[in-house]
Amino acid sequence: MARITVTVDGVTYEEEVEPRLLLVHLLRDRLGKTGTPIGCDTSNCGACTVMLDGTSVKSCSVLAVQADGCDVLTIEGLAEGDRWHPLQRAFHEEHALQCGYCTPGMIMAALDLLRDDPDPSDEAIRHGLEGNLCRCTGYSNIVRAVRRGAQTMSGDAEAVRGR
Ligand code: FES
Ligand code: FES
Repeated sequence: MARITVTVDGVTYEEEVEPRLLLVHLLRDRLGKTGTPIGCDTSNCGACTVMLDGTSVKSCSVLAVQADGCDVLTIEGLAEGDRWHPLQRAFHEEHALQCGYCTPGMIMAALDLLRDDPDPSDEAIRHGLEGNLCRCTGYSNIVRAVRRGAQTMSGDAEAVRGR
């Protein structure tokens, strides 16, 4: 077992973990962060995407011990009380989800994209989200939502940080 300290959505946890434990299982099974879903067992779907020290990662392809000393932001850390993050509002307003299974990962990947490129073209949005699969929407509304979120977040450093 290994002892790790990890901050998730602003709360610091100390956990004893097996070295083989995946970050997504730490989040879901130990910390109750079930807003981060598991959509595959091949690291392909992107549903489990979270931010790890400011960069999006597929949390099913990261070991919990690799997050020792790190700051993790999940979809559950984006809203402030009843106030949704601009990307969450944009996905809602553009009807960018149907079953919603891919949505947490899509939003976290979009946040990472907008940190690097605050005003992306549609092509750049599609490229930035190519690691995230959606089986329902056909992607057009997702691209529109990211564009709308980018417009809303323009100049809002807090929204770009995700907090
Ligand atoms: S559950 Fe992580 S990529 Fe599919
Ligand atoms: S909304 Fe169903 S998988 Fe994307």
